[in-house]
Amino acid sequence: MLIMLGLGLVPAGAAAALAVALVSLAAAAWWTVGRAPLRAQGVGGSRYRTGSSSAATWPRTGGSTGRHGPGRCRSGSAATASRPACCPCSGNAVRDHGKLSFTWFGPVPRVMIPDPDLVREIFNKFDQFGKPKMIRVGKLIATGVVSYEGEKWAKHRRILNPAFHHEKIKRMLPVFANCCTEMVTRWENSISLEAASEIDVWPEFRNLTGDVISRTAFGSSYQEGRRIFQLQEELAQYLTEALQKLFITGYWYLPTKNNRRMREIDREVRKILLEIIGNKERAIKYGENSNDDMLGLLVESNTKQPELGMSMETTSVLLTWTLIVLSMHPEWQERAREEVLHHFGRTRMPDYDSLSHLKIVTMILYEVLRLYPPVVLLNRRTFKETELGGIKYPADMNLILPILFIHHDPEIWGKDASEFNPGRFADGISNASKNHDVSFFPFGWDPRICIGQSFALLEAKMALSMILQRFSFELSPSYIHAPYIVLTLRPQHGAQIKLKKI
Ligand code: HEM
Ligand SMILES: *[C@@H]1O[C@H](CO)[C@@H](O)[C@H](O)[C@H]1NC(C)=O
Ligand SMILES: *[C@@H]1O[C@H](CO)[C@@H](O)[C@H](O)[C@H]1NC(C)=O
Repeated sequence: MLIMLGLGLVPAGAAAALAVALVSLAAAAWWTVGRAPLRAQGVGGSRYRTGSSSAATWPRTGGSTGRHGPGRCRSGSAATASRPACCPCSGNAVRDHGKLSFTWFGPVPRVMIPDPDLVREIFNKFDQFGKPKMIRVGKLIATGVVSYEGEKWAKHRRILNPAFHHEKIKRMLPVFANCCTEMVTRWENSISLEAASEIDVWPEFRNLTGDVISRTAFGSSYQEGRRIFQLQEELAQYLTEALQKLFITGYWYLPTKNNRRMREIDREVRKILLEIIGNKERAIKYGENSNDDMLGLLVESNTKQPELGMSMETTSVLLTWTLIVLSMHPEWQERAREEVLHHFGRTRMPDYDSLSHLKIVTMILYEVLRLYPPVVLLNRRTFKETELGGIKYPADMNLILPILFIHHDPEIWGKDASEFNPGRFADGISNASKNHDVSFFPFGWDPRICIGQSFALLEAKMALSMILQRFSFELSPSYIHAPYIVLTLRPQHGAQIKLKKI
């Protein structure tokens, strides 16, 4: 399940690799034919080497161990590094070959489009540039709205939309509040009065966002929902290990222990889901339950829940990086706390209207999403031969829209592009990006923009407000700054923060 999540949102992750492994032969054959024309048109790139992903480092960067893994990413000093120590999208491909370049992902060539104007064109012409093809590997890949195209996508999006209306999200606020209360209470109980205590906030935030999504999406089936997310966590661990071997064609069919366990997990997830959905359908049939919660809508739209696992991952990394950068920049932590205390004092539960009006906190979240976008790139593919920016691409060409790279581009953001400066968002997003077009798109862009954007931001604001009300925090000496990419941009060695009650 989680695999397809990746496919939809972060094809650079394991999921894409997985799909890629299977199409490798066909693609390699195509490429021998297809490479020359692109070069002739001035698109730079590197020669394909079997089993490697040459110019771009991101698939390898994703690995947790091994020669190609974090060894390549220098870990910056916690105090000074405010940008990813390892910024794969500004990697060699761009430096070596000029801005427009192609790169290898396993044996499949992909063209990187680091130009906001062209990115906008790709988003606008969504009838010409679709999502990459989904390849089913065994039964591990399900489908969902992230991967649909055309009419099918439009239909499912229409069904899902009502679940994310502001009124609905407003009604979820008590769920956010309860889950956050549980977390901060646990923190309060675990730290002593006098001294600061160390907590790794990354698993804490995964727990929190898993809790929130289980309760909002599964309602009364909350426990089963939690179990599904636990299983997906385990699956993600195996995937991380498997990343190292993904370029071996057919690897997924080997009866290794990991592969067996991954299929087992997938079967269990499906079983639980079928039960929940069965109950839900019965409830809807007998009119017991308004199909009000998200799962009801997912049942109706027949999408199951796969997007939800990814959404929990993205929201939790947003919160994690936010605590890390606010530890690195105490002056902004203090400004955010002032604002939060001004609205809610030390004890009041944050309410919807005030949360929507938090200005400093919003600027901070935007700046974190700019520097550490949870989804580092988007994948698109040409349906047929298509011209873009004066270059003709063959059908089925994979295009990368490098969010992370564009978010760090000094030509767009100015000389301080790599510095943490929420102040740049004081007059809005277009002012911050100096009126460049699609230059800030952590949630993608219309029409396929993230449906859960307001949900995620509200959850993040709630959690952050409740933390700022109660604690001051700084980095622990054991924290190592090492952003790396698995399915999302994660802190490789965790996020050890020292908390102090205030
Ligand atoms: C900080 C948190 C989040 C980030 C950074 C994020 C990012 C994204 C991005 C970049 C896309 C576009 C993918 C593409 O165009 O290829 C997307 C789509 C999507 N997201 Fe999110 N997301 C977040 C949270 C959520 C949440 C909380 C939910 C649901 C509860 C959610 C549900 C979805 C769905 C269903 C789509 C597919 C929309 C479509 O194709 O029409 N996301 N997300
Ligand atoms: C996650 O949350 C649950 C319930 O709130 C709690 O019992 C559990 O200890 C938490 N796990 C971690 C890793 O904090
Ligand atoms: C951004 O806002 C500032 C202050 O309002 C203004 O001086 C500046 O010209 C604006 N920049 C852009 C690109 O709109």
